[in-house]
Amino acid sequence: MENTIAKNKPKINSLSRLLTPDTVYIDITPRCNLRCQHCYSSKNGLYKKEKSYAEICDLLKELSKAHIFKVHLVGREPLIRKDFSKILSFAYERKFSVRIATNGTLITPDIAKVLAEYKNINSVQISIDSLSPKKHNEFRGNSQALQLAIRGIELLIKNNIKVCIATTLTNFNYRELKNIADFTHKIGAYYYRTRLLIGNPLNKKFQVSKDQYRYAVQNLFDIKDYYNDMTVEQLHHSFLFDKLVEYNPDKEITVPCGAGISRCSITYDFKITPCIALAHLFSSPLKEGFSDEWQKNNVFHKWLKIFTKIKGKCRICGYRYKCGGGCRANVFGATNNIFSSDPWCWFRPDK
Ligand SMILES: C[S@@+](CC[C@H](N)C(=O)[O-])C[C@H]1O[C@@H](n2cnc3c(N)ncnc32)[C@H](O)[C@@H]1O
Ligand code: SF4
Ligand code: SF4
Repeated sequence: MENTIAKNKPKINSLSRLLTPDTVYIDITPRCNLRCQHCYSSKNGLYKKEKSYAEICDLLKELSKAHIFKVHLVGREPLIRKDFSKILSFAYERKFSVRIATNGTLITPDIAKVLAEYKNINSVQISIDSLSPKKHNEFRGNSQALQLAIRGIELLIKNNIKVCIATTLTNFNYRELKNIADFTHKIGAYYYRTRLLIGNPLNKKFQVSKDQYRYAVQNLFDIKDYYNDMTVEQLHHSFLFDKLVEYNPDKEITVPCGAGISRCSITYDFKITPCIALAHLFSSPLKEGFSDEWQKNNVFHKWLKIFTKIKGKCRICGYRYKCGGGCRANVFGATNNIFSSDPWCWFRPDK
């Protein structure tokens, strides 16, 4: 028992942050052509005003000054912007390595060709939540969503652009991950990832149970072994299946996703936040220039403090150095308490 119970005080001294983040996610628009039932940024759709091209360029200049090398262009739907290729062109001039996250439905042959011109595009992530048109399209609120997303993937691959496929894990697709991973491999994408649904009152009907989550974690663990020529990203608790991961109550707590440590996001209205899904709780307008905000803004201090104060079983668990007590956005969505332990984790540190 003594071995399994941590000393009840998560250490945070070594939670040191990079002087400048490795990656910055930029929400370049609050607009979207879809109305997905789960979308955490759907509230943003109410605000139609997006930052102008000149303002986005000014932000990119700031990031360049701060020695940021990697940017992810996201949003609601980044490709909805008519000036998207101009933004890419500016990012190209400034030598950013760019990733894009899109629902894929707006990718036409012409757009794929334009994207292919920018050799600084590292990869494009496209969401596929099910290979059943009925399930994907209902979830995505559009009867053509799956067909168009698959067309988008094919066009990108044809134009030699690296594609990552992303699935939001739900109770209607948790048994489908192998099928979607097989599809990802077959179509020639290089990376498959899933992500636990960040809950809210409207989407909680899609949330997986703890058993369904465990099934998905095991399944992805097996899929990773199955494919040695495609990267399969793991869910938080894959280490529970890895016999080599030590249980060590003395190791310090961590922020596994790197939010606030090595990465941050900029909201569509230019607020800086460690986590885009928690921007309503932790964000602050970019006033003083990016570097100063990253280094001095209290929002990051408040954010990192959470990890010293997680309550319940994760506080005493010797794996907390591995999972950080779970994704805070997921935990908050499920419990409404940012300090709660991870409700999906099946591990019992007290046993
Ligand atoms: C906000 S979207 C932006 C890019 C694009 N519009 C798309 O849907 O792929 C980025 C990713 O977040 C996922 N997402 C949206 N709401 C979510 C939620 N509540 N929980 C987890 N992932 C979510 C989307 O499915 C998508 O894979
Ligand atoms: S396509 Fe993306 S941004 Fe648009 S509603 Fe769906 S999840 Fe949200
Ligand atoms: S989520 Fe909590 S209980 Fe589960 S392994 Fe991580 S720290 Fe331990």
